[in-house]
Amino acid sequence: MFQSDSNFDDYYQDKQNYYRLLSEQLKQLLSIEGNAVTNMAQVSAFIFQMIPELNWSGFYLNRGDDTLLLGPYQGRVACVHIPFGRGVCGTVAKNRTSLRIDNVHEFDGHIACDAASNAEIVVPIIINNDIYGVLDIDSPVQDRFDDDDLRGFEKLVEVFIESTSFE
Ligand code: SME
Repeated sequence: MFQSDSNFDDYYQDKQNYYRLLSEQLKQLLSIEGNAVTNMAQVSAFIFQMIPELNWSGFYLNRGDDTLLLGPYQGRVACVHIPFGRGVCGTVAKNRTSLRIDNVHEFDGHIACDAASNAEIVVPIIINNDIYGVLDIDSPVQDRFDDDDLRGFEKLVEVFIESTSFE
C-alpha cells in the first residue's frame, strides 16, 4: 500500500509536497476506524515507515494527574511516566506548543530514553481545549529536522485528530 522505506528521494527533494501526500495517505489509512488506540498505533507505524532517519515515533498520553503515560509507538522500549514540565515531551504537554530540538543534549531536563536519540520534534494533541497527549518523534541524527518537518508533523496530528473518536 505504501512505498518501501528504501526510497526516500521524494522526501529529500520536496519535503512540503511529501508531507502533503503523506497527510492524504494518512487520511485514507485512518478512515478505516475511529478507535484512538488503533489510530495511534497506525500513525506511529506510518511515520516510522515513511520518514527516513528516525529511531522512535509515538505517543505519550495525558494521565490526568499532570503526568504523561507511554502510549502506542515504534522504536525501542521507552520511559513510561513523564511529569508535565519535564523533558521535551513534558514541556510541550505543559506549554501546549510544538518544539523542534536540534540537539537534545542541550535541552535542559531532556529525558534520554534511548541514548541514540539526538534530535526531536514533539507536537501537542489538543482536544476540546484539553491536552490529550503529545506526538514524539526522535532521530539519531543531530539537526535532523527543519520547519518543514515540524509543520508536516503538525499536519499529520491534525489528520489524526479529525479522523479519531475521543469519546
Ligand atoms: N526524550 C523525550 C522522552 C521520550 S523518549 O524520547 C521516547 C523527552 O525528553 O521528553
